[in-house]
Amino acid sequence: MQENSPAPAALSRKFSVAPMMDWTTPHFRYLARILSRHTLLYTEMVTTGALIHGDTQRFLRYHESEHPLALQLGGSDPAELAHCAKLAEQFGFDEVNLNVGCPSDRVQNNMIGACLMAYPDKVAEGVAAMKAATDLPVTAKHRIGIDGRESWDELCEFIEKVAAAGCETFIVHARIAVLEGLSPKENRDIPPLKYEWVYRLKEKYPHLEIIINGGIKTFDECHQHLQHTDGVMLGREAYHNPWLLASVDTEFFGEPPTVASRHEALRAMLPFIQQELERGVYLTHMSRHVMGLFHGMPGGRQFRRHISENAHKPGSGLEVIEDALAKVRES
Ligand SMILES: Cc1cc2nc3c(=O)[nH]c(=O)nc-3n(C[C@H](O)[C@H](O)[C@H](O)COP(=O)(O)O)c2cc1C
Repeated sequence: MQENSPAPAALSRKFSVAPMMDWTTPHFRYLARILSRHTLLYTEMVTTGALIHGDTQRFLRYHESEHPLALQLGGSDPAELAHCAKLAEQFGFDEVNLNVGCPSDRVQNNMIGACLMAYPDKVAEGVAAMKAATDLPVTAKHRIGIDGRESWDELCEFIEKVAAAGCETFIVHARIAVLEGLSPKENRDIPPLKYEWVYRLKEKYPHLEIIINGGIKTFDECHQHLQHTDGVMLGREAYHNPWLLASVDTEFFGEPPTVASRHEALRAMLPFIQQELERGVYLTHMSRHVMGLFHGMPGGRQFRRHISENAHKPGSGLEVIEDALAKVRES
């Protein structure tokens, strides 16, 4: 970001943006950090296989301004998880998180994600290996259950085993994942939300840090959840309406906002977009993540339309964003 950008905030899990594949890319995260200094950001999930056998540098690339930043891993092999946790530390991440909530078929075959909720010992082994490999906080993001294993006692067994392995922070998506019959998208909407279960976890395990996730949209809802849990994690709402993040520092951390307007936020991103264009990144790879910025504002539709119609054209550059910005009145 700017040369005089403030030092990163200390890691707090009171308010975070969820890991989302294809959405919480470095470009979205750059914008998110312009909007809020305190929000904890998560990478997209990266599998241990991809990190170990693929282009490690590319998968772990982020901008210095993104701190505090957590790396989310998908995997279950303890040695591989340990290796990747060490990489997370070497690359300067602030936390390493294990995905035990993703319901996709593709990942089930590889023992990654929500299917691991059926194997608490395996998750515990993975967490123990990660803990032994790094001094970073090791956290888990999971569901309240999966089909066929959705009782309160089974959830408690999962938490207790994983906590005994050294995990002190549980980010709980407050619905089960149905591995047989629902798509990943349906699995984010159809199984009912049971926030009370997450509250009960905090009551039963007060020494653990419990973060609640799933279907949260407003600050009023966040404040309500914060009466029962240690933090809130927002996914889709933060992506589709990122301007919400501009009030997080004031609302939850008692600090002044980092930017005064949506225009200012996007303008602060332009030098970074220019640098990325010069590296050969296509404008569309970045511009798609700013589409939500004028969500609900007069002119927002024209802003989005201008980007959709022009960003993909060969050679498009900053002028597309600048012209789109000019379509919305500056407040
Ligand atoms: C496009 C998309 C991609 C996602 N990818 C991941 C992921 O990589 N890892 C993960 O743990 N959860 C992933 N999720 C789930 C979110 O992290 C979050 O748990 C879920 O969307 C519920 O929160 P929300 O209702 O605030 O969006 C994804 C969600 C979406 C919409």
